Amino acid sequence: MLKISVLSGAQAHTVKTDALALGVLEPPKLADDGVELDTALDGRLSELLDSKEIKGGRGKLAATHTHGVLGATRVCVAGLGKPGQLDADAFRTAAARVVASARSGGGSRIAWYVDSELGLSAAEQARALTEGTALASYDHGAWKTIDPRPDPIAELVLLGSDADDIEASAERAAQVSEWVNHARRLVDTPASELTPVALAEDALRVAAEHDRLACEVWGPDEIHAADMGAFSAVAQGSTNEPRLIVLRWPGLDVPEAPTLGIVGKGITFDTGGISIKPSSRMADMKGDMAGAAAVLSAMGAIAALDVPCNVIAVIAACENMPDGAAYRPGDILTAKNGKTIEVTNTDAEGRLILADALTYCREEGATHLIDLATLTGAIVTALGDFYAGLMGNEQSWIDEIQAAAAASGDHAWQLPLHSTFRRHIGSTFADFKNSSDLRQAGSIYAASFLSEFAGEGPWAHLDIAGTALLDRSRGDYFTSAGATGYGVRLLVELAAGMSKEP
Ligand code: BES
Ligand code: MN
Ligand code: ZN
Repeated sequence: MLKISVLSGAQAHTVKTDALALGVLEPPKLADDGVELDTALDGRLSELLDSKEIKGGRGKLAATHTHGVLGATRVCVAGLGKPGQLDADAFRTAAARVVASARSGGGSRIAWYVDSELGLSAAEQARALTEGTALASYDHGAWKTIDPRPDPIAELVLLGSDADDIEASAERAAQVSEWVNHARRLVDTPASELTPVALAEDALRVAAEHDRLACEVWGPDEIHAADMGAFSAVAQGSTNEPRLIVLRWPGLDVPEAPTLGIVGKGITFDTGGISIKPSSRMADMKGDMAGAAAVLSAMGAIAALDVPCNVIAVIAACENMPDGAAYRPGDILTAKNGKTIEVTNTDAEGRLILADALTYCREEGATHLIDLATLTGAIVTALGDFYAGLMGNEQSWIDEIQAAAAASGDHAWQLPLHSTFRRHIGSTFADFKNSSDLRQAGSIYAASFLSEFAGEGPWAHLDIAGTALLDRSRGDYFTSAGATGYGVRLLVELAAGMSKEP
């Protein structure tokens, strides 16, 4: 894990580091710390300002070597953009640019000035800089043998005056980021390695690290015996057995305390089944378990941080394969809640496994439900790779999730759910059908379907198909294709927020 230390600004000149960084707004000017550094560096920072090499634009970076004048090898001036647009993402992005600069010289130690004059509180800056550093340090190339792999950034020194606030906030962010990177590794891992069984083994390992975190794993017979007819049907076409993974965190021993239920789609590979997908980009479907990865990793973080909130996590993990034993279009399934579903498209499998997982999570005592799923291609078209789609059955619960999304950096955008959409899920033969041929509002259609299985009480759904696995850099602190770990930070923030409720 990224090691955090906090020093006062006066110690900046002696701190041994590969990059000493400070943020500047646009248009750029040097604040007190900057002026001091400039003096030590014989005016080299002013020169960079005069030559317009320091512009202050968001995501822009200028660096200069110190030639041994300071403890640092280089000084980085990182742009934060216009003051009116300053947010935590600006600091995360700046931190990622500094990681790249430190690494270009083979470095692994970074120091950052925390300057609360810039607009965000010292604690918020510390959190964002830590996240940006830890997340940009993640290596997607774990399977490469030819290129030398970069070392992860080992140490982040934060220089500021509110030492206690900075330290608590950065330590927490370092822990959460570690779990975000855990989720990313699960999502990046190919389906040949990350089978449902391997995912369950990971969950058992995570639970074994904490006394009070319990994990239960079911195989196909138990799933079938629990009347999970929809989940069983999706799983039946693969020789890799399904697993139902349940994690329980008893964070708060108070009788009337709410229980947060988090449900993850864990399709370890989605071929589409008999309604097979086209081959282009099908490799991305190794990431169809990103909801499960977020849920599992969030439980690891919640336990590590000892969050005082009861949480139950349910993950339905299986492969969606075409096979002699696979479920077919036209099949009619009976879900755990007794409702019947006509399968009109075997590629709309996520909503089927989630239907049973939601019912089970509610039965197990969840008062507030949220599911995370790479559910529809339509959400990628509608919202792209920055916002996940958020829908639910109770506005106050959606608002709480929206607030956690904004505060955590896992951004979400609400789409409407209305009873009028329900007419699209009606079937001639069964209670519902799992897909419509209307070619409209596909993400809302899917959420309407899920709402029928959420039981009584608040429920919300996050469609993370666009945000979980990138096919190119996002231009911010996610600088490459691959997994983002979307949802881990949001879920931790949500659980922590619920523990503060009266
Ligand atoms: N796993 C896919 C959704 C997806 C698409 C995730 C692109 C990530 C990137 C899901 O199971 C799926 O196939 N959805 C179908 C639903 C349709 C058949 C109603 C889709 O979106 O095309
Ligand atoms: Mn599918
Ligand atoms: Zn899928």
